[in-house]
Parts: sequence; C-alpha cells; structure tokens
Amino acid sequence: MSFRVQPSPPVRPNRCQLFGPGSRPAIFEKMAASAADVINLDLEDSVAPDDKPQARKNIIEAIDDIDWGTKTLSVRINGLDTPFWYRDVVDVLEQAGDRIDQIMIPKVGNAADIYAVDALVTGIEAAKGRTKPITLEVIIETAAGIAHVEEIAAASPRLAAMSLGAADFAASMGMQTTGIGGTQENYYMIREGQKYWPDPWHWAQTAIVAACRTHGVLPVDGPFGDFSDDAGFEAQARRSATLGMVGKWAIHPKQVALANMVFTPSQEQILEAREILAAMEEAKSSGAGAAVYKGRLVDLASVRQAEVIVRQSEMISG
Ligand code: COA
Ligand code: MG
Repeated sequence: MSFRVQPSPPVRPNRCQLFGPGSRPAIFEKMAASAADVINLDLEDSVAPDDKPQARKNIIEAIDDIDWGTKTLSVRINGLDTPFWYRDVVDVLEQAGDRIDQIMIPKVGNAADIYAVDALVTGIEAAKGRTKPITLEVIIETAAGIAHVEEIAAASPRLAAMSLGAADFAASMGMQTTGIGGTQENYYMIREGQKYWPDPWHWAQTAIVAACRTHGVLPVDGPFGDFSDDAGFEAQARRSATLGMVGKWAIHPKQVALANMVFTPSQEQILEAREILAAMEEAKSSGAGAAVYKGRLVDLASVRQAEVIVRQSEMISG
C-alpha cells in the first residue's frame, strides 16, 4: 500500500438505483415500495423542458410526504450547461425537508462543476440551518468527464457515488451506437470465422472504478436501456460487479431484482471467502504466509479479496 492509505467509500447498500421522472408522480409510491437501495427522482432528461417547474414541485412534495424507509433518496438535477440546474438545487433544498439525502449531478466535465454545486449546496444548508449534510453523486457521461475522472472523484468530501451513463457517454464520444449499454453489434472481433463481442464499456468502467477507489467514492454502473432483455442486463451487471462496481441503475422496476441479485454476494461466494480466510488463519498459526485452498495458492492478497466479499455481505445484511 502507498503511504497514503486508500479511503473507504460510504458504508451503505447501493446495489440498485431506481430512476423515475419527476413529472410522473403516480409512480413515486411504487418507487418507495421497491427493493432498490437508492431512489433517483429525475429533473433532467426524462422531464420535458416545459414540465421542469411542475416536476420540482412534485419532487419537493414527495420528499416530505412519502415514506422512503431507509433508502438513500437522491434528486437528479439538470446539467450545468442548462438554465434549470441552479433553480433545481435552490428550490429542492430550500423547500423540501430533511429526508432528502443526495443530489445527482449529470454530465460532469471537471472538478469545477462539483465545486459550483458544492458551494451552492453549502450556502443553502447554512442559510436554512439544514443539519443533515447533503451528499453528491455524479454521472460520467461525456468525453470530458472520463478525461478528468480522477479530479472529479477527488473534487469534494460530499461526493459519495459516481455512475457511468452509457447513452450520453456514447453520444459525447461520437460512438456509432444507439443502444443504452450492453453488447454493441459492430464492436466485434473475428477468430477463425467466429464472431466474438467484447465489451466497449470496459475501459471507461475500469477508469471510473480506479478513480473511485483512490478517493473513497462508490463506483456504480448506469442504465441498461432494453428492459425486456433480462439476460443482457444480468451479463452487463455481472461484468460490472467483477470489475469492482457496487451496483447498477434500474430504469424499469423489473430490473431492481436483477441488480440486487448480482450485487449481493451469493452464499457460495461468501462460503468460499470464509474458507479462504480460515485457511489463511491456519497457515498463519503454523508460521506460513501462503496456503493451498482447493489446489490454488492463497496468500495475504487473497485475504484482502475475501474480505471485500465478506464486508459487502455483512454491510448489506446490516
Ligand atoms: N419506478 C417504479 N414503478 C414504475 C416505474 C419506475 N421507474 N416505471 C413504471 N413503473 C410501474 C408502472 O406504473 C406499472 O405499474 P402498475 O403495474 O401498477 O400499472 C408497472 O411499473 C409496469 O410498468 P410498464 O407499463 O412496464 O412501464 P411504463 O410504460 O409505465 O414505463 C418507462 C416505462 C421506461 C417509461 C418507465 O419505467 C420510466 O419512466 N422509467 C424511468 C425513466 C427515467 O427515469 N430515465 C432517466 C434515467 S435514464
Ligand atoms: Mg444522461
């Protein structure tokens, strides 16, 4: 480990973030009743420009009136290039009560974007005497966002989570795609006449995970648009979990159970992790630094890997 110890991210379940348009209050109760760990009430791209003022009112009312249980409650504001974002922050934080936990900033491009929202949030908190500090989450979904991902991850102690937004990311990068996440038809390799489809999101995901882990932020995979393709969602989510992400968005309620399944360590994974820890304890007591578990080498790095799984399962089960 470097002399500078890697900070821990916030200790909270973040397996699934369920989105819903702020202009569709009829689904808010259903969102609250869902099994998602995080709720994202949207003021941005799922709300038409003319509907923004009414959507703000709907969200402010819902923050106070609906029982959100123990969920993390987040509001996605509009991008800093729009005339809407400052009023999103001001109205929501001045008028809603203490139940709101988090503000989500879309399309962040650099650390100054976070600084601007942080300064506004800090001013409103002080003026209104808000006692519960608001956390921030961001979406990496532009070329600038991925180019500056590390300074963004380091931009504010309020920053709790960072997601990859595949659709806007693809548009900003000029990618020749229309699907939101998952396999892309034209991104393939050929070996002996057989097509094979690699993952075009992989590099951006690992860049986000590295920035997040360096600065104690939760890395999250964003939307998977084809909500009739459960197998595609699951495959994307399993790749994200393998790379170190802690959760994934749901843009339809049927995706919540899939995300929870993938991002909750399975009984087999937990059992294996505990057996590795036990094997290493035994090795340690006999003075050895490494051991053999099921024919494989396990050493102190294996202990740290196993601890990730055990800690995650303990945190989820509370
Ligand atoms: N959260 C909770 N419940 C939802 C929901 C959501 N995001 N979206 C739909 N539902 C409910 C419906 O009201 C319906 O409930 P019912 O069985 O009681 O009638 C049920 O789930 C099935 O909905 P369905 O008919 O399949 O979908 P729809 O056509 O009503 O809505 C979408 C589909 C994609 C438009 C909708 O899910 C949606 O708006 N998703 C979020 C979009 C968003 O926020 N995007 C921004 C982030 S990318
Ligand atoms: Mg977007």
